Amino acid sequence: MQVENVYKIFGRRSGEAARKLKAGATRADVASLGTAAVIDASFEVAKGEIFVVMGLSGSGKSTLIRMLNGLWKPTSGTVRLGGQDINAVGAKKLRDIRQKSVSMVFQHFALMPHRTVLDNAAYPLEIQGMGKAQRLEKARTALDLVGLTDWADKLPSQLSGGMRQRVGLARALTADTDVLLMDEAFSALDPLIRREMQEQLVELQSKLGKTIVFITHDLNEAMFLGDRIAVMRDGRIVQIGSSEEILSDPANDYVAQFVADVDRTRVLTASSLMHRPAAMVPLSAGPRVASRTMREAQVQAAYVVDRSRKLRGVVYDSEVVDALRAGTTSLETLVRDDLTAVDQDASLAEIFLPATESPLPVPVTDSEGRLVGVVPRVVLLQAMVPPHLEDSAHDETAAAEDTDTTDAAAQTAAAQPATSAGAADAAAAAPLPADASEQTTGERP
Ligand SMILES: Nc1ncnc2c1ncn2[C@@H]1O[C@H](COP(=O)(O)OP(=O)(O)OP(=O)(O)O)[C@@H](O)[C@H]1O
Ligand SMILES: [Mg+2]
Repeated sequence: MQVENVYKIFGRRSGEAARKLKAGATRADVASLGTAAVIDASFEVAKGEIFVVMGLSGSGKSTLIRMLNGLWKPTSGTVRLGGQDINAVGAKKLRDIRQKSVSMVFQHFALMPHRTVLDNAAYPLEIQGMGKAQRLEKARTALDLVGLTDWADKLPSQLSGGMRQRVGLARALTADTDVLLMDEAFSALDPLIRREMQEQLVELQSKLGKTIVFITHDLNEAMFLGDRIAVMRDGRIVQIGSSEEILSDPANDYVAQFVADVDRTRVLTASSLMHRPAAMVPLSAGPRVASRTMREAQVQAAYVVDRSRKLRGVVYDSEVVDALRAGTTSLETLVRDDLTAVDQDASLAEIFLPATESPLPVPVTDSEGRLVGVVPRVVLLQAMVPPHLEDSAHDETAAAEDTDTTDAAAQTAAAQPATSAGAADAAAAAPLPADASEQTTGERP
């Protein structure tokens, strides 16, 4: 889906207002000509993406989403679906698109009052001309999915508001279109069901590969669902980015204030927080190399990896020194696995428990179990603070974010055990974020 320079102005002199806006007029300047609900919106939604539009009430979200299925025509600009300009096609083709390609769950969903829940859910297939038995079967599956199995034969008036909204969702799912447009689809649900629906939607999306545009003014919902999020203010899109980008680098104060009370523990992931391990040694290196590496990095423990960089555990300085005195030549017996590693996609919340098990930074591994970084405890705490409240925390994280030398560090450390100052510097990159800038300059006492 491609949206290009789309404007929507309500009012009789909308064209004139659009021209003035393009020439630089503000929303207030054109107020006498009409209400500028959407101003110069441009974005693309990839196939299989969940794109969230977020913003305060009246910022233009519903207006924008209604233009995505041709329900409303933009005052100016184009909306393309699978390459086709949906405002350039005839009425019949447009109806076809709405029935077969794009379904919409509205903010205030109208069900047909004299039909059962099941019939309501089956309605899109009825319009498509599908036989009764088949469409009812599909509708039942959708009702199961939204937890309304036992309500199929009731009338809408016998349902609660949240349940009715779920019928709306079931109806959209029944239609089985590639694109789902959802306008505050979960807002009327109570928190537990809402969470469940969000999880179902993500699951559904990954299973069926639907393209979803989801409107919400709930930040945590936006952060949970969105591959990318567009933030709207007064008709304009002021930022588009991943939830992490929006959290850690808000485009302006409006966005920063908006995200200030997000539950950051659910959004930030290990990969966005991790630093390079201060000391890492290959298993094939001996105690002498391990000891040297730790000394150079001024740390008491080193992460041990095997040939393919899979994490094997840690060795402690004191034990390595004892082993050296005893004439041990291998690290094998010294490696301890008393650290719990987290996956690089683990949320902040999932890192807390492992962080309590040891004072050492929590190791972060990829899907193959390879060590890709570590999260020091202090970084966990800093990550809880919104960037606009604590600018320095943000800067330090950015300074230490350069994790791609992990490979180099491992290789250098393996190839040239501690005889080169470069190897030691690379391995000792960042034990703690507060020290990161000093460490990376290579200054050591
Ligand atoms: N049919 C309409 N006629 C005139 N003005 C409209 C119409 N629909 C919306 N507007 C105006 O356009 C602006 C944006 O409205 P819109 O419904 O898109 O906001 P929203 O972001 O969806 O808000 P909410 O979160 O409250 O649903 C508002 O100022 C509204 O008054
Ligand atoms: Mg709305």
